[in-house]
Amino acid sequence: MLRVENLHKTYRLRETGADLRAVDGISFEVERGGILGIVGESGCGKSTTARLLVRLEEPTSGRIELDGRDITAARGSQLEQVHRTVQLVFQDPYASLNPRLRVGSALAEVLRVHGRTARGQPTRARVAELLEMVGLAGEFARRYPHELSGGQRQRVGIARALAVEPEVLVLDEPLSALDVSVQAGIVNLLGRLRAELGLTYVFISHDLGMVRHLSDRIAVMYLGRIVEQGPWRAVSDAPLHPYTQALQAAVPVADPEREQTQELDAVPGELPDPANPPAGCRFHTRCPLAEPGCRTLDPALERLAPAHDVACHVVSRERGGVAATPGSGGVE
Ligand SMILES: Nc1ncnc2c1ncn2[C@@H]1O[C@H](COP(=O)(O)OP(=O)(O)O)[C@@H](O)[C@H]1O
Ligand code: SF4
Ligand SMILES: [Mg+2]
Repeated sequence: MLRVENLHKTYRLRETGADLRAVDGISFEVERGGILGIVGESGCGKSTTARLLVRLEEPTSGRIELDGRDITAARGSQLEQVHRTVQLVFQDPYASLNPRLRVGSALAEVLRVHGRTARGQPTRARVAELLEMVGLAGEFARRYPHELSGGQRQRVGIARALAVEPEVLVLDEPLSALDVSVQAGIVNLLGRLRAELGLTYVFISHDLGMVRHLSDRIAVMYLGRIVEQGPWRAVSDAPLHPYTQALQAAVPVADPEREQTQELDAVPGELPDPANPPAGCRFHTRCPLAEPGCRTLDPALERLAPAHDVACHVVSRERGGVAATPGSGGVE
């Protein structure tokens, strides 16, 4: 359904004139009906990836294919078609809901703009149907955003995305602004909607614990790159990359108090400046396994287990990848 090849997004920083490679050469595929989880610390390029996938921004280079069509530089009617097929759900739908518009009017507006009402069904009925799909009673159509709880607002955010009848939802930290007690309800809703509507998801989170139950594949990002990707159970339960291992160690075990501060102290060591990433392996400044060579040699993403790719010299050598040092016993 989605294929991304060597995707880059570089921002020129106004203050310094420096180039910030927010997304620096990532590749992945998501099959129809599948869920790709993308996980990584704040600032690693997750939201930029999300905006590229829904083509709110144009990539600097690389390629995005949607259902076999190249949408990398889509414009005009082709771009409108992309926006009808791929929808973004934000972390905080409040920020993107017009505070002066009742929920029903906001949904009716989306239906009108995307021409999704002209199938004989009155707009009002379709609005009620959308609300019902996300588990909200019809009377919510008359409410204003400020009259809703966080969970209800996120349901409206999802209803608004569904209004255009998309095939893919890109969910950018949809649970992060919600209380732990509310998150499970949204997770269940997303699972039900995917089954009922045959949707494909890209589910983004800074929390590996959140992504693991929702994804069939997981990609781990660090400073604009994917450092590990593979089947969800392998990546979440037996990660190979030292960074993923650090993320895994930071997943709290049913401790709601820690969950709030988790992002701050998740991985030991300081995140480098994304505008000036370390040479060699970008993780070497924080990596417990780092060797001298890691400071100069940038490891490539390599297949080291079934459908499971890792970018790390040490793991590659231990598992006999192609980049293994000659004589170490790894190369056939
Ligand atoms: N429009 C922009 N202009 C300049 N820098 C940006 C812009 N958007 C994002 N960035 C930078 O790109 C990096 C990745 O940001 P983002 O994709 O939001 O990461 P995440 O969602 O993983 O926290 C950050 O260093 C951020 O400051
Ligand atoms: S390449 Fe070196 S620094 Fe990078 S993750 Fe592997 S061991 Fe750590
Ligand atoms: Mg983000």
